[in-house]
Amino acid sequence: MTFDFDTPHPRLGTDSQKWQKYAGRDILPLWVADMDFKSSPAIIAALHERVDQGIFGYARPVKATVDAVVNAMQARYGWQIDGSWVVWLPGLVCGLNVTAQAFAQAGDEVLTLTPVYPPFMTAPKNSARISAQVSFVLNAGRWEIDWAVLEAAVTPRAKLFYLCNPHNPLARVWRREELVRLGEFCVRHNLVLCSDEIHCDLILDPTLPHIPSAALSPEIAARTLTLMAPSKTYNVPGLGTSFAIISDPALRAQFVRATAGIVAEVTALGFTACEAAYRDSEEWRQALLTTLRGNRDFLLDFIARELPGVKVEAPVEATYLAWLNVKELGLPDPIAHFEKHGVGLSEGAFFGAPKSHYVRINFGCTRATLTEAPKRMKAAIAAK
Ligand SMILES: Cc1ncc(COP(=O)(O)O)c(C=O)c1O
Repeated sequence: MTFDFDTPHPRLGTDSQKWQKYAGRDILPLWVADMDFKSSPAIIAALHERVDQGIFGYARPVKATVDAVVNAMQARYGWQIDGSWVVWLPGLVCGLNVTAQAFAQAGDEVLTLTPVYPPFMTAPKNSARISAQVSFVLNAGRWEIDWAVLEAAVTPRAKLFYLCNPHNPLARVWRREELVRLGEFCVRHNLVLCSDEIHCDLILDPTLPHIPSAALSPEIAARTLTLMAPSKTYNVPGLGTSFAIISDPALRAQFVRATAGIVAEVTALGFTACEAAYRDSEEWRQALLTTLRGNRDFLLDFIARELPGVKVEAPVEATYLAWLNVKELGLPDPIAHFEKHGVGLSEGAFFGAPKSHYVRINFGCTRATLTEAPKRMKAAIAAK
């Protein structure tokens, strides 16, 4: 079967957050992490069928939905989970916030590595916990963990570690030895490990496996909760369907207690989409990955040839997001400058990087958009 990732679907004038931001202005939005592609045909068909039922009462996950998740973990990652380990959530940002409340007290510290997806830094603060941040270091074209600095950052108030696996915005796939070292670090310091794996089905480098943090060893699994969702991969973030996988019963009970009465339930349409995503959309996902690999190569090639002063410092191994060093451009506000020339990017400062040094670009779009936007960036650089 062939799938269409080329036809532009006009999103201007729709409820799209990504496109609404620039309504009335000629700015191509390459910021928030959703794609301009339709979801898989299997998801769309399943949703049609569910809508046709016409009854939208309170929903509960049925066995087939849970089985779809369990089987995908086994087939893709060799990770044997039990359906009872799955805790449904309306979003993973919600999951990060619940985690901070469940496993740390006010004034406790939540460690993370920066630059990182902004809620990793803001979630602890939302409930008076403290975000403790350690910067990645760039070594020979590879973003790495500065283990000495990380060790030194641990205080008696550190209770939790937030890991982004694979990493947004660095597009990095963590290798087994790095994950084992991180897991052992958490064991040694008695930290709960919260592993956000929302981008795990979007590995672009076929030689690199995704390794769930909780699959490393029983000892690491006992302190790990894994956050996942079909939202990024299948382009259904607007359906608010995510889940935590927590094997340890006590850890799971503590997490569930923190959700009580506050966290909304997943909707009927969300469950439907989730089941069709994990069970019936593998061929589509593989075609998507081929498209994203092509987009990545096209973009990186254009940047290398045509965008002086813009650097991609490390391989883009996963996600549809690339982290661009724009420091050499010498722009005090690169986002404003690129917007003035018709391209909407994400600001590095939101991820914990210096504002004038980094921007993030989303290449989960049609080739037409990905041809036009970098041309506009070239004009923006020429006009500075
Ligand atoms: C690492 C990571 N976690 C969570 C999310 C968002 O999750 P949700 O929309 O389910 O809250 C994103 C979105 O970009 C993300 O990159």
